[in-house]
Amino acid sequence: MGDPVLLQKAEAVVQFDTPELHALIQDMHDTMAAMDGAGIAAPQIGVSRRVVIFGVGSNPRYPDAEQVPYTVLINPVLTPLGEDLEEGWEGCLSVPGMRGVVPRYARLHYTGFDQFGQPIDRMASGFHARVVQHECDHLDGILYPMRIDDLSRFGFTDVLFPGQQVQDD
Ligand code: NI
Repeated sequence: MGDPVLLQKAEAVVQFDTPELHALIQDMHDTMAAMDGAGIAAPQIGVSRRVVIFGVGSNPRYPDAEQVPYTVLINPVLTPLGEDLEEGWEGCLSVPGMRGVVPRYARLHYTGFDQFGQPIDRMASGFHARVVQHECDHLDGILYPMRIDDLSRFGFTDVLFPGQQVQDD
């Protein structure tokens, strides 16, 4: 947080299935895995392109955590389904060590492309919808603290959740 690239509107990808695009996605994948994140956007590794990846697998330590399919999503378009908002705790690899409560659309439709140019068209709700909205915000220069409407619910992860293991993103 503080790097101007995180405040820019990222540029659309025009060519799919290129060595540059595959290398970018590999870098993003490796960074997300190393930091145990739920998702990452290209601007977070300094590349202002409309590429996000996300995914949450099963974890025996968190049997109640909602799983999210591993997805490469390029040039995404999000359309909320209804006006319903849900609050939930979020963190971000670009805002390390912190958590805040962010309102997000409860349900949405999203479209885009994978790294090979194959179309993606899905409905999402709950944590899946939250992750998509968080990651796609990065493509428009928005970090989650900008969406917090009650700053009394924003703080350091180890103070908010003492003794708990909490994912970095
Ligand atoms: Ni983030």
